[in-house]
Amino acid sequence: MPAAPQSTAPIGVFDSGVGGLTVLHELLVALPQEDFLYLGDCARFPYGDRAPAELQAFSRQIADVLLERGAKLIVVACNSATSSALEHLAAYVAEGGHAVDVIGVVGPESNLAVARTRNGRIGVLATPATVASGAYERAVLASDPLVKLTTVACPQLARISQDGAPITEDDVDLARTYCGPLREAGVDTAILGCTHYPFVGALLQRLLGPQVTLITSGTAIARRVQHALSTRELATPRSGEGRYSFLCTGDAAAFVEVGSRFLQLPMAAVEQIELPTEVPA
Ligand code: DGL
Repeated sequence: MPAAPQSTAPIGVFDSGVGGLTVLHELLVALPQEDFLYLGDCARFPYGDRAPAELQAFSRQIADVLLERGAKLIVVACNSATSSALEHLAAYVAEGGHAVDVIGVVGPESNLAVARTRNGRIGVLATPATVASGAYERAVLASDPLVKLTTVACPQLARISQDGAPITEDDVDLARTYCGPLREAGVDTAILGCTHYPFVGALLQRLLGPQVTLITSGTAIARRVQHALSTRELATPRSGEGRYSFLCTGDAAAFVEVGSRFLQLPMAAVEQIELPTEVPA
């Protein structure tokens, strides 16, 4: 039986790359006293084109690493992994005897979007894996069955953020195509259903128009994390600022260079780790 998690242990957070740093950013602001351990699986980016079984296997491998390092809670800061693997991962962690909550980004974002919409028309921009999973339809309609949801798969949008290169006119044209159905549907609220998308948030806001409220994963999740920690009496007893550090598969220097723009805080401690590169059966 694994040891019970400690309140002074870090919160584990993971994503396929730098996108989840937009979530970590919000968590560092909302819970400054907590420690965090972030794993960016850059070597296996993108997750957004992968099958559910792969995302489940990757999530299990990452959870093993975070739990070995004592994580007291796991945040799946990736909409693709959340959509295909959240329940699976929570069951895996519980079956391993860990009293550790696993929190994903789809539910909190959907609830926030339902609370914000005034005309009942919500748009979702997300990766193909997230759209195919139907996770947003389930979460939004469970929260309000009368909402009209328009969902668009955006195969190339996460790469624009992960590359960290300046946004080009071709990128703008691509984003315009993705935003088209949301404009036609007259949505007043748009869920950025991928943690990489806040990086192109200004571009999306411009294309959708200033009347549309953008909902991001980071803003939606902090309260959920806080609540889970207090329910299990795992909030840190410390005051002041906690520490945060990083694990990365792939090129650590590129991770820091692009990641610092997402995090808007220094990224000092990055450890490179290996995870299997072959796709699990
Ligand atoms: N950040 C991931 C998400 O939220 C996806 C990017 C990718 O790996 O395709 O879905």
